[in-house]
Amino acid sequence: MRGEGCELVAEDGQRLIDGLAGLWTVNLGHSREDLVRAAHAQLQTLPYAATFGGVSSPPAIELAERIAGLAPPGLSGVFFASGGSEANETAIKLARRHWVRQGKPGKSVILAHDRGYHGLAGVTTTATRLGPYHTEFGVAAPDVLEVPAPYAYRCPAGVPCDPGSCPVCQGRALEEKVEELGAERVAAVIVEPVFGSGGVIVPPPGYLARLREICDRHEVLLIADEVITGFGRTGTWFGCDHDGVVPDLLTFAKGVTSGYVPLGGVVVADELWDELRDPARRPGYLMHGFTHSGHPVACAVALANIDAIESEGLLERVQSAAGTLAASIAPLRDHREVGEIRQAGLMVGIELVCDRETRQRWPVEAERGRRAAAAAREAGLLTRGLLDDVLCLAPPFTISDEQLRRSVEILGDAIAATEDLHSREAS
Ligand SMILES: Cc1ncc(COP(=O)(O)O)c(C=O)c1O
Repeated sequence: MRGEGCELVAEDGQRLIDGLAGLWTVNLGHSREDLVRAAHAQLQTLPYAATFGGVSSPPAIELAERIAGLAPPGLSGVFFASGGSEANETAIKLARRHWVRQGKPGKSVILAHDRGYHGLAGVTTTATRLGPYHTEFGVAAPDVLEVPAPYAYRCPAGVPCDPGSCPVCQGRALEEKVEELGAERVAAVIVEPVFGSGGVIVPPPGYLARLREICDRHEVLLIADEVITGFGRTGTWFGCDHDGVVPDLLTFAKGVTSGYVPLGGVVVADELWDELRDPARRPGYLMHGFTHSGHPVACAVALANIDAIESEGLLERVQSAAGTLAASIAPLRDHREVGEIRQAGLMVGIELVCDRETRQRWPVEAERGRRAAAAAREAGLLTRGLLDDVLCLAPPFTISDEQLRRSVEILGDAIAATEDLHSREAS
């Protein structure tokens, strides 16, 4: 298998459009000379340097400055990790440490949204609120509690949902949870600006802003998990930019290097950053980090990746490709097993249902989404059936309009073809 631009070429010569950009990752497409050159040059100059215990390397320093310049205003500290789970583990540790520093160690609860995906390390396994990812691994991490998702199609407050007045979509349910626990117990709320693995759930406009208000009112930190949405996937540098929201901690990974080399990190609000950098205050230095955090090769690739996003106008490209995608995917809504199509930039989720009227899901054994994904793969599109039969499409930003239309055509055919198969088996 090799990657060529927006396609993967199998050993037997079959070409597949990479409809998932790897794993929401290869935003600039495969085999780019500029990214490969950046990695090569860095490998020849300084193949490894730590960012642990107060040291750093030139590419890590340059990248931190660059990211701080792109991040929402007031966020200028960058703490590197090696991927998304480590980034979120770090953000949660930093949030809790902040309250310890403030003399409020009891403020330790992390509120995580139902259907949110934040990684699969220690605390993040519990913060990932998708059953199969955390129910079979024994003890849950303490002080991680769930709040409902602003998932209007299956609103926990009742369907049909009017997001303008719905208690969940307006954040009131979350605020009630904070009040029930007591704000003196709550350290932070974590949220994806667009929920990815949970089914491409696009919160109603203003949801993040409501969370910001609630967090401010109760002295709770807001962590935006931008591991998927960061670095352009929704057409802006960060997903928070759409609502003009400034979180206290913003995590990133995946698209920062287009996945060529693993990298992740947390962008930290200035107030918290100053506290982190102040060695005079107890309990001293920040004893946290990972061996490969801010790896110089990854940082060099990230710098080249950001250069390319800027010089090739790829944020604008995402915006225009999103328009093409929206137009070509709209007719799929007429399919009798398509419950809802959700989109934010170049992230699409097609939720397949057994009954559109009642929104009933397929039984797990039907493997409805997986079957459609397998049929699409046969026809030349790599996609994935997420949990609960949501097919997703999240191609590289460099995908052509023609490849986008072809992807949608394959998806539509795959949904139709596997519908027939299911009916035959059921009868
Ligand atoms: C939103 C989000 N956060 C965190 C993670 C975890 O990232 P990683 O797999 O790099 O640890 C993912 C991975 O898909 C993700 O989608």
